[in-house]
Amino acid sequence: MDMGLRNGFIFIFPCVLALSVSVSGRPATFLEDFRITWSESHIRKLDGGRAIQLVLDQNSGCGFASKKQYLFGRVSMKIKLIPGDSAGTVTAFYMNSDTDRVRDELDFEFLGNRTGQPYTVQTNIYAHGKGDREQRVNLWFDAAADFHTYTIMWNHHHIVFYVDEVPIRVYKNNEARNIPYPKLQPMGVYSTLWEADDWATRGGLEKIDWTKAPFLAYYKDFDIDGCPVPGPASCATSTGNWWEGTAYQALNAMEARRYRWVRMNHLIYDYCTDKSRFPIIPPECMAGI
Ligand SMILES: *[C@@H]1O[C@H](CO)[C@@H](O)[C@H](O)[C@H]1NC(C)=O
Repeated sequence: MDMGLRNGFIFIFPCVLALSVSVSGRPATFLEDFRITWSESHIRKLDGGRAIQLVLDQNSGCGFASKKQYLFGRVSMKIKLIPGDSAGTVTAFYMNSDTDRVRDELDFEFLGNRTGQPYTVQTNIYAHGKGDREQRVNLWFDAAADFHTYTIMWNHHHIVFYVDEVPIRVYKNNEARNIPYPKLQPMGVYSTLWEADDWATRGGLEKIDWTKAPFLAYYKDFDIDGCPVPGPASCATSTGNWWEGTAYQALNAMEARRYRWVRMNHLIYDYCTDKSRFPIIPPECMAGI
């Protein structure tokens, strides 16, 4: 459905798109859009660079980053997470402004688990330097059996985290109510695979089992549509970008249904309802927002 809509846009507004879109052929190969940032020896290119394998062993984890930063847009990739016993590992896919003092960041963190136990996806949002907005969802499928698409959609209206076609997290632009919203700084796209057994699985109770190493995750179909920075300054404010279109300004009815389904059946933690951390409900969590 998504692709159909998008192709519709391309067909109708070829000129606008030619001006605003950063990448031509889609999906891109790894090296077109990304570079390795941590441990070259632990990232292997597969299928002519169209896919990669990330390796975590006792020597090192690894990471990669986009060559450019983007201000608004949609980033997605297909990921096949670590099979079997992945307890204590964290695979992350996120956007980050790389500005320490006023950090903006949009996080997907995949927390491994013991064999047969569900992978947990933690999402978090930093706006203007403040984070502490964690939510956790247990995946309703075996995330290591197949590739699934993980998407961050970021426009002037909202930020949506998708797992396949299912929205698992929505953060609306409520600047009108003085709620901070990331919109001034471009963000790079990052991914890392590392060991975090002090907190990742059952709060750190489950330790990594190094006899199961190396731990392997696979990525493919890298897809970034956004306003590259540096790039044309007018891009980020242009209403002609497909990701700013009416179809993307709020969840549609089907998405809203799926979002409710996830929250009812698979949400296991929400900072909004964590009274011990937040005796006063954070403003962006108030009903109706
Ligand atoms: C791991 O599995 C346990 C038991 O099913 C579950 O409670 C937990 O949320 C899962 N995820 C993590 C990261 O611990």
